[in-house]
Amino acid sequence: MNRQEWLSKLSALKSDFDRAVSEKKLSQDIERDFLSKKGSLSLLLRELSSFSIEEKKELGSLGNDFKKSILEYLSASPDNISKSKVSSDLDLTLCGYPYPHGSVHPITATTEKIISSMSKLGFSLEYGPLVEMDYFNFEALNFPPDHPARDMQDTFYLPHKDERGSDYLLRTHTSPVQIRTMQSRKPPLRVISTGKVFRSEAVDASHSFVFHQLEGFCADKNISMSDLKWTMESFIKDMFGSAAKIRFAPSYFPFVEPGAGVEVSCVFCSSHKGKCPVCKSTGWLELIGAGMIHPEVFKACGYDPMETSGFAFGAGIDRFAMLLYGITDMRQLFENDLRVLKNL
Ligand code: DAH
Repeated sequence: MNRQEWLSKLSALKSDFDRAVSEKKLSQDIERDFLSKKGSLSLLLRELSSFSIEEKKELGSLGNDFKKSILEYLSASPDNISKSKVSSDLDLTLCGYPYPHGSVHPITATTEKIISSMSKLGFSLEYGPLVEMDYFNFEALNFPPDHPARDMQDTFYLPHKDERGSDYLLRTHTSPVQIRTMQSRKPPLRVISTGKVFRSEAVDASHSFVFHQLEGFCADKNISMSDLKWTMESFIKDMFGSAAKIRFAPSYFPFVEPGAGVEVSCVFCSSHKGKCPVCKSTGWLELIGAGMIHPEVFKACGYDPMETSGFAFGAGIDRFAMLLYGITDMRQLFENDLRVLKNL
């Protein structure tokens, strides 16, 4: 580098400095960029070693004047942190440790979506205990002790009995919330409940000993199957889009009469061209159990079935989550593998 080149480099650095000042760069950054060991001015001053004594004197004093003006600026600058206050190996410009953001679990997100959808239809939320009594879980729902429908809902029993002599058990469904709510409140009622339920099941891709359900019911005067149908249709369209259709198939649950399986048109068929693994190419998915509340259930709650009518429905939240998030194996929801959950 010759004298002329050195001078033009110095004037370029001066413009860099003016720009840094006008852009209000932090003084630590300016100090690092110009004055640190590898700072641009330090490097330029080091170039002087190959110049003649006269040039060293002339150019050195120009360089030092510039250095002085930078130092003056830094000591007057409001964000100045002088070297004396901060140990030299502390670099305040380094970014911090990344703080991992949590996110809502797919089951929670699905539950919230369901609750918001049902609350638009006027349903309010109630909760029931997970450790339930045989009376609320079965008997008041019209499953007498030897009823064969109990076989489908084997569960875990606790070694305690309540004052009626009824067993304590882990609830097998959210339907007991119907009984608890109706026994403590009067119609008109539009209520939903969500939460964990338990069954004595072996774990596989679509079964688990713990899963999540939605329960809903309406008890009022003159409620008919068409109210149930409208409610199901509005709910399903809100969850899966307005193209979703529903149809009812006969089904049996002791606490409703008539009982129905609500099937939803498969919204995944269109993306699988002919061979749909989600509905096994039937075009329909059975997602909800429903029906008109049985007169025996109303009687157990102290309601007159000639006066009050109503509908009830129940669904697996895990199944909804699997459809909404494209999960094919239910176990992925509970293994808490962050590599899976992060991609949902
Ligand atoms: N409790 C039922 C079950 O777990 C689901 C159900 C079916 C709930 C029909 C209802 C209903 O309220 O009307 O299998």
